[in-house]
Amino acid sequence: MLGETVESTWWDFQSHASWNRVARHYPGNFAPQVARNLITLYTKPGETVLDPFCGSGTSLVEASLLGRTAIGVDLSTRAIRFSRASLALVCQMTYPIPKLVRADARNLNFINNDSIDLVILHPPYSTIVRYDRSDSRDLSNLHSIQSYADSLGAVMSEAYRVLKSGRICALLIGDVRREGLYYPLSMIALCVGLRAGFVLIEEIVKHQINCKSDAGWRNRPHNFLMIAHEHLYVLFKPRSPKQWGEFMRDVGLTQQIINPTP
Ligand SMILES: C[S@@+](CC[C@H](N)C(=O)[O-])C[C@H]1O[C@@H](n2cnc3c(N)ncnc32)[C@H](O)[C@@H]1O
Repeated sequence: MLGETVESTWWDFQSHASWNRVARHYPGNFAPQVARNLITLYTKPGETVLDPFCGSGTSLVEASLLGRTAIGVDLSTRAIRFSRASLALVCQMTYPIPKLVRADARNLNFINNDSIDLVILHPPYSTIVRYDRSDSRDLSNLHSIQSYADSLGAVMSEAYRVLKSGRICALLIGDVRREGLYYPLSMIALCVGLRAGFVLIEEIVKHQINCKSDAGWRNRPHNFLMIAHEHLYVLFKPRSPKQWGEFMRDVGLTQQIINPTP
């Protein structure tokens, strides 16, 4: 029931833990072990976890089972329905009951500044899985990498605003391939996070298994490798702007690199 615990920056869960039978039918859901390990590593019971792209509610279920307060946000009514069903299935007897809000992650004005202990971000990976085609605010409808980066930037700025100083914002993201070229979405997302004011304390590589796209790759002729990993960046909200400035200077990331002018 507790799932695998982690000790290194290589996370390889052989299957999705079985207790959440609802979430498993939501496209693009992550393994409960991802959320469980993040919550265990970076929060204590009673603290507050926010997931602004909560989807089927995987992290809300884990937070609730671990005795954390959780807030889940998603733009899609389908996601909110899935989250409710996941919580009803797994967390009937647990307390506190997570709060669910249907909203745009780029505007979390219903959450106070410096009030959250952990943010877990699992955005759409560009257009790989389309969530709500009818909603232009949905990040999965943004084909242009620049528009995607701008929107993710707005989400990261909100995450930074609501997070307490000295706490963690974890971002899970995969890269994408388009017409034979490899688009390093994760690298772009990391730059966006740094630009929002975070510093990096871990980069975890997660083995990505059993994706629907794997079958397509296997069954078609290809002259490229199957993408089988995701990046999990553990970002830290510095206690002072000086710490951010020093980090950026030490790793040689100038304003020019993280915020290039076209
Ligand atoms: C990769 S899924 C998250 C899956 C989730 N971790 C789970 O285990 O089910 C991304 C989610 O982002 C949501 N989304 C896309 N654009 C959004 C936006 N602007 N604000 C809030 N949610 C958004 C989609 O509806 C989708 O549920």
